[in-house]
Amino acid sequence: MSANFWTNLRAKHPLGIVGLSPMDGVTDLPMRLMTAKYGAPDILWTEFVNVEGMLKNPARLERALWTDPPTRVKNNQLVFARLESKRQDFSLVARRKSGPTPCKSSSSNPKNTFRLANSSQQKTVDCSFCRLEINGGGAKTRTIAQLYGLRPDNFAALTTRLINHQIPRTSGIVGIDLNMGCPARQVALNGAGAGLIQNKPLAKEIYLATLEAAQGKLPVSIKTRLGFNELEIEDWLGWLAEELKPAAIILHGRTYRQGYSGHADWEAIARAARLIKSLSPNTIVLGNGDVQSRGEAQEKVVQYGVDGVLIGRAAMGNPFVFADRQEASSVINFMKTTAVPELASSECSSPEAKSSQNENNDRRSFYLALALEHALLYEQCFSSLSNYSFLPMRKHLAWYARGFAGASALRAQLMQANSSADLQLILEVDKKKSNPLEAVLAAD
Ligand SMILES: Cc1cc2nc3c(=O)[nH]c(=O)nc-3n(C[C@H](O)[C@H](O)[C@H](O)COP(=O)(O)O)c2cc1C
Repeated sequence: MSANFWTNLRAKHPLGIVGLSPMDGVTDLPMRLMTAKYGAPDILWTEFVNVEGMLKNPARLERALWTDPPTRVKNNQLVFARLESKRQDFSLVARRKSGPTPCKSSSSNPKNTFRLANSSQQKTVDCSFCRLEINGGGAKTRTIAQLYGLRPDNFAALTTRLINHQIPRTSGIVGIDLNMGCPARQVALNGAGAGLIQNKPLAKEIYLATLEAAQGKLPVSIKTRLGFNELEIEDWLGWLAEELKPAAIILHGRTYRQGYSGHADWEAIARAARLIKSLSPNTIVLGNGDVQSRGEAQEKVVQYGVDGVLIGRAAMGNPFVFADRQEASSVINFMKTTAVPELASSECSSPEAKSSQNENNDRRSFYLALALEHALLYEQCFSSLSNYSFLPMRKHLAWYARGFAGASALRAQLMQANSSADLQLILEVDKKKSNPLEAVLAAD
């Protein structure tokens, strides 16, 4: 992977690069795979990985860098956790290359079972509550590995392991990103993450050690904030650009002090982007903060002069924030309602729109099918690990269960799930409660 990866990626995306922002405890492998499959962002990020911890306890932390799911096909095109219908009378939701495919209701065939394809476990699961098959095929999973820590030699050692392919299942890593923006107290007050904004000599040492270890084989970027206590555009971002000239700077439009409060300051991001470009014309600048969809990201590119945008929180339980209009419309044609509000335009809505009750049920079925696929994928990726736990999956279930009637009561139930099998039981019971007539018909 050449060091001009970022400029090439920019050239490939004239409307701007739109990627998944790193989120600790969120953007693990199954979440990234779901996002890649249904939203196809232009680039993905791992959770941040502590270089000190990684070198001490690789077995525990390496999984944060995994990009390869259990099943690999070829050319970075992956097929994973496909839920194959034994009966082929379902159709798929959105297939990127071949365009929108009509979706058929499964209500005439409510007792479907699905097999988890390509799994060594070959589980058979009852998905009769799912009204559609999710079967999107391959997905690109180009991923940036984000590192944080304090010791330059540890950054270099981990980078060396990555470029020498000494960490299994990381073939999708295409770049290294240095976290200089995390505001968590145990990170920043220790001098790492956003703490580096106040320690330029160490920031420089870390960057140069990583760059040298990367040997031009992986580009090195920096994700940071607008300043520590206040805006430090010239002093911090100008210095980063002039002194380090990284391949890319990813700029969250808040200071350390702000944490996640208030709004991201996109005017300040624009000022910083202009300055960075004037001092280091080849550095790609990605803005970040409060963006809700690919469309909004592309507007920000035009309005604020950045090369692209990362989206974080809006992607929780909703991979479609990365879908473009055409792709999202195939989902919308099925749902007659959408999780991407700006895409719910008149061109997408049908004159024979279903009643709001049916729309609500479509949305419920659709997102709960995603929740189940995600849970199966989570088990497929991690259940063989010695300290395996289903608990980190629960928050994703809650994020999928939003925006339909009865969601809040269902979320409370989902917080009890300890496996995908539990999840299925909960969803079956919930479906009967929410749609008693359909349950009676299905039982006939
Ligand atoms: C739960 C959570 C975990 C995060 N973890 C990381 C991280 O590991 N590395 C990082 O650079 N930023 C992290 N962030 C910050 C996000 O990447 C992003 O900069 C921030 O959420 C603003 O973007 P958004 O408004 O699109 O979410 C995290 C944010 C959240 C909410």
